[in-house]
Amino acid sequence: MTGAEGSSLAFRSSGTGRPIVWIHGFPLSSELFSFQFSIRDARHIAPDLRGFGETPAPAGAVSMADHAADVLSLLDRLGIESAVMAGVSMGGYVLFEILRRAPERVEALILCDTRETADSAEAKKGRLDMIEQVRSEGVGPIVDSMLPKMLTEETLQAADERVRLVKRIMEAASPQGVIAALEAMAMRPDSTDVLRGCGIPAAILAGDHDLVTPPADAARMTSLLPNASLHLIQRAAHLANVERHDEVNRVISAFLDTIPGTATSD
Ligand code: MLT
Repeated sequence: MTGAEGSSLAFRSSGTGRPIVWIHGFPLSSELFSFQFSIRDARHIAPDLRGFGETPAPAGAVSMADHAADVLSLLDRLGIESAVMAGVSMGGYVLFEILRRAPERVEALILCDTRETADSAEAKKGRLDMIEQVRSEGVGPIVDSMLPKMLTEETLQAADERVRLVKRIMEAASPQGVIAALEAMAMRPDSTDVLRGCGIPAAILAGDHDLVTPPADAARMTSLLPNASLHLIQRAAHLANVERHDEVNRVISAFLDTIPGTATSD
């Protein structure tokens, strides 16, 4: 473990019922799940990973395993033994580390717009270039380059609360947190073996227009997990959970209803 061991994560929470832990993507925060908190009969817990939202940036390097340990410490702090866990993109990378070290704490998996494979050499180089850019120009250029990948052109043209939400969250990201997360994503291991044969019930969602983690990634993860269902979300890019929140919430509520002990409706 690197960085601040046992870091206390800030988190948003809402509702009562079966706990669902929502782990955000890059360069975002717990606010990413604002629309999911309307899923009923659930205790929503959305941490801010180190360096994002209200959680201070790490002093040095931080790995996906560190983020996973932080989330598990938060559950300990809240007295939660196990939970449904959902990860969007980088949040999925954190979730794979939770599965690697404590699968017994995961009752069901919701994987949105993510992938289990590690970065290619080219992708790693792209991360390093981004780090240099953040060092010299701040997070502004990252927001400008990422926004058109997060949401479809149709949604960007609508310029409504979904666009304002994503832009606001990204603009609030700290350079230090962004740099640490880019390093952590570049260094993350392949998690194919973690998913292969894992019998935990899983819902895999992907925007049909997602170019960051395309639907083929979702299909491949679904084929690794014996108890998984695949859901392509129409007219959505990387942040399907924001862009098509009604449809995503419907899919997730229906999935939760199939898990023993859960009765959840949107
Ligand atoms: C994210 O949305 O979390 C990131 O774009 C994922 C990535 O860059 O691999």
